[in-house]
Amino acid sequence: MTRRFTLIGATALALLPMGAFAQDKELVLYCSVDEEWCRAQSEAFVRETGINVLMTRKSSGETFAQIKAEEGQPRGDVWWGGTGDPHLQAAQEGLTEEYRSAMLSELQPWAVAQAETSGYKTVGIYAGALGFGYNSTMVTENPPACWNDLLDARFADDIQVANPNSSGTSYTMLATMVQLMGEDEAFAYLAKLHANINQYTKSGSAPIRAAATGESAVGIVFMHDAVTQATTGAPIVTVAPCEGTGYEVGSMSLIKGGPNPEAAKIWYDWALSASAQEIGATAKSFQVPSNGSAATPPEAPKLADIKLIDYDFAKYGSSEVRAALLARWDAEIGALPK
Ligand code: F6P
Repeated sequence: MTRRFTLIGATALALLPMGAFAQDKELVLYCSVDEEWCRAQSEAFVRETGINVLMTRKSSGETFAQIKAEEGQPRGDVWWGGTGDPHLQAAQEGLTEEYRSAMLSELQPWAVAQAETSGYKTVGIYAGALGFGYNSTMVTENPPACWNDLLDARFADDIQVANPNSSGTSYTMLATMVQLMGEDEAFAYLAKLHANINQYTKSGSAPIRAAATGESAVGIVFMHDAVTQATTGAPIVTVAPCEGTGYEVGSMSLIKGGPNPEAAKIWYDWALSASAQEIGATAKSFQVPSNGSAATPPEAPKLADIKLIDYDFAKYGSSEVRAALLARWDAEIGALPK
């Protein structure tokens, strides 16, 4: 099988980097945040530890599927980033290792709760709220403010969202709708919304990149991904839906039986430190970091100002519920004609 890794290697190293005495000289990283952040984070780790990183970027659901396919012969060491639900499912299915990092004491309660829910097989590394963004040169009147506004016929074929099988963002949307409306109502909403969807993308943040370039008027994404486009000068307005919305606890897990367990723990502890968590903002990723001492980027949407639902991570991250919702989505939404 051919594999598409990006090798991020150590060249000239400063005096005795953190990993100087580690036996593992490389780490295989499965990364589920945006590519630019994956690279920046990997490069910083190489600089600070001298341990090379073989990095692959894939969406959350895709990475879960890959780790499951590799069960018994794992190729990866750490799964870093991506929405928390599939990390919880991986924990439940025994694909990831229990690890109680000494860094847990530095984390926000919501990040520790994620660890507790999983029996310490995953941990929260950032948080962000779901919403949408629209292109203000294309939508000039009656800007959408609510989930319900996205059903308007004026948006026919002008909205993008990802496929919830590959994308954690889109699964978060599916689980959010179920929690906001009840399951049957949520599927009725998604079936109506289907008339306005021009494409179900693989990656969760692709829809807002399409809105930024004017390929689509609206992208349903995490709000911080809409902010990223706005900060680069695109005419994107970020919306926190009026009915309320869900959120993610972006997570990290150690892959059970991975080839470089020592390097994996060095990454894990480092990635929970305040300085490592501040790298996201330098790569234009504006989530709320989980280390209580890490600076929250000023661009990050303020979670306290957003009407957040009490998202049930244990339920919607369980194998049974996630698999059942995805199967129903495939049957009732993915199969609808376009
Ligand atoms: O890095 C951007 C981001 O939105 C993260 O906040 C999130 O965890 C991840 O992407 C989800 O990506 P996907 O929907 O492609 O799984």
